[in-house]
Amino acid sequence: GKGEYEHFMLKEIHEQPTSLAQAIEGRIDPETERISLDGFDPGTFEHVDAVQLVACGTSYHAALYGSLALNQAGVQATALLANEYSVVAPPVDDDTLVVAVSQSGETADTLSALRQANRRGADTLTITNVVGSTAAREADDALFIRAGPEIGVAATKTFSSQAVMLTLLAQRIAADACGHVPADLESLLPDIGKMPDAIDGLLEESAADAIARDYLDSESFFFIGRGLGYPVALEGALKFKEITYEHAEGFASGELKHGPLALVTRETPVFAIFTGQEDEKTLKNAEEAQTRGAPVIAVCPDDHRAVEVADDHLTIPDVDSELAGLLANVQLQLVSYYAADLLGRPIDKPRNLAKSVTVE
Ligand code: M6R
Repeated sequence: GKGEYEHFMLKEIHEQPTSLAQAIEGRIDPETERISLDGFDPGTFEHVDAVQLVACGTSYHAALYGSLALNQAGVQATALLANEYSVVAPPVDDDTLVVAVSQSGETADTLSALRQANRRGADTLTITNVVGSTAAREADDALFIRAGPEIGVAATKTFSSQAVMLTLLAQRIAADACGHVPADLESLLPDIGKMPDAIDGLLEESAADAIARDYLDSESFFFIGRGLGYPVALEGALKFKEITYEHAEGFASGELKHGPLALVTRETPVFAIFTGQEDEKTLKNAEEAQTRGAPVIAVCPDDHRAVEVADDHLTIPDVDSELAGLLANVQLQLVSYYAADLLGRPIDKPRNLAKSVTVE
């Protein structure tokens, strides 16, 4: 049941410290600081020279996050919408690993991309929450995120777990295929271990309910981010439109000036996500929106320069830039939740949507 929570979504947002701890459990060897994945012997990914991630919706945002983590670890990777995969038909060979990312493991679009990859001779792997799901059975291998059941139609805790799982996988593929993991990713593994506590702290002190209330009357809600902040911007907007029914869009920060800036007014708050990747540029992009009257809500640590510039602030603990976006995402989940709640929406079952989409 929902226990003390009014909605499953809020309960599941609050479960993230636990679900993330479960995702990580036993997968980082504390002595060697190496990733160990059950059923994947060292060297399993030695031959992999390219990774294609396929997924839909929130899982696609996690896949995009994962593709960036793979690139940063030195592995060639692309994320594709599963429903575009058959028409895009990117070349695969037997050194291509196709990773299907799906909470349910039953999404028809994702299964169809997975089947196509199988037919074309790629190695396939599923990252899913559901043991025994179709995707888990049909891929060559499966990795489980162990998030526990997710009842709310809006995916929340499973996004964080998928992203962390993909970050671990990126390290593992890099170690097998490239023989090493880039040195600048050294603080990553210890910081992954700190994520459950970091989210706990953030949940206790979040100002998301006040922010949701203050900006509820706006016309449109924009989310911008760069690098790993970009999939989080997309996810922030998807969650917002899915449960509030208000118009929201996510953009790469640098894209604002290439068109969307024409929409920016004092009625369009801009949530700016800072992940420590070229933040000065993102701040400049946010200021361009602010000059046109848009209130800017910075999502970043307390001591970040953006705090002085922005009209409002949602705080995140200071962690490795590879993980900051996941903390920002939790704040944005809460903003969507509280906005939808104030609007009286049926949060766990938004209109026209199903938890698992089993048609193409
Ligand atoms: O079960 P899956 O992860 O394959 O589902 C994919 C999407 O349908 C899903 O993430 C959808 O976008 C969510 N309702 C978003 O909150």
